[in-house]
Amino acid sequence: MADAIVIGAGIIGCGVADALGRDGWRVHVLDPRGVGRGATQASAGMLTPYSEGRHDPVLERLGARSLAMWDAFIAGLQEAPEGAPLYSRSGSLELALDEDEAADLQQRAGILARDGIEHSLVTGSQIRQIERDVVAHCHSGLLIPTHGYASATDVTAALWSSSERRGARLTQCRVQRIEREGDAVRVVSSTGSFAAPLVVLAAGSWGGTIEIAGEPSEPVRPVRGQLLYLSWPEPSLRRIVWGTRCYAVPWPDGTVLVGATLEDAGFDERATVAGVRELLDAMCEIVPAAWHASFTGVRVGLRPGSPDALPVIGRSDAIPGLVHASGHYRNGVLLAPLTAHLVSRIARGDETDPALAIVSPRRFSGRVAT
Ligand code: GLY
Repeated sequence: MADAIVIGAGIIGCGVADALGRDGWRVHVLDPRGVGRGATQASAGMLTPYSEGRHDPVLERLGARSLAMWDAFIAGLQEAPEGAPLYSRSGSLELALDEDEAADLQQRAGILARDGIEHSLVTGSQIRQIERDVVAHCHSGLLIPTHGYASATDVTAALWSSSERRGARLTQCRVQRIEREGDAVRVVSSTGSFAAPLVVLAAGSWGGTIEIAGEPSEPVRPVRGQLLYLSWPEPSLRRIVWGTRCYAVPWPDGTVLVGATLEDAGFDERATVAGVRELLDAMCEIVPAAWHASFTGVRVGLRPGSPDALPVIGRSDAIPGLVHASGHYRNGVLLAPLTAHLVSRIARGDETDPALAIVSPRRFSGRVAT
């Protein structure tokens, strides 16, 4: 019997597996597709809590706390094979194309100033000096220098290698049901069943399809995101650029990732003409140089959205050995370090972290088991 089973090998599952391995747990990871093949592979990897959390101070605080954990999270992990950095604090620039958008940025800057978050408002002409590919008629912008991005697939692969070095193993199977078995937890899958005293459910959108004996399935639904890969002969973007309809993440190798659609399409992982066109139109509006880019690819992922768009992390009431680590929606990469930290604390029997009250699955209790 393994000490801990982690269901899901995305960045959340691999981050949890690595943290548990460092704590001395023998970890068995279950995933139907292997490491980093779900939403992780279609993530732009943005670490931008003050943008993602602009309408939700709770999400902003969780994200800011997790952003501060990134250095420690990847300390000791191997860099990507070609020596590319696993993550970069490039900063971000949000654009205002007109007066209304500028007023919104001004208001946001006021809130950042009140909260002591480093930022600056820049004029259109200043933007043209620092980001020459951005559209000329830009009104103003908001710079947040602490933001950054990570290569979600490289970080996830590195987390998995680190886990493997500590004895973790992976079985490719689809989990169907989780049930209590005395003091342990039994996981029934497409290729047989496994039991362990601790099971962590980190299956992303698919968590909602897994039956849990004695309680409703996880309250997550898939929200499709399409992400474009473009490249320029002489790319000049130096930081993440946000418009109101898309964002662009410039990679050191010249690739620019453009994301992302938000679509309610069930478990349909297809790229669509409508999705690609929406993103290309939005990108060319804020960065006209993209008209001359090569279109090198499109990726599609299903974000696990919870009813309040906050993560779902904590013990199950029906099965005490089961810990949920799901519902990360648009911020799985950003929140991976905090999630790994919280799950490792829960596994040690320490549930005193105040964040656990916010992300507790109990906030959805009252739902009826189906
Ligand atoms: N984190 C951005 C997105 O999910 O599109």
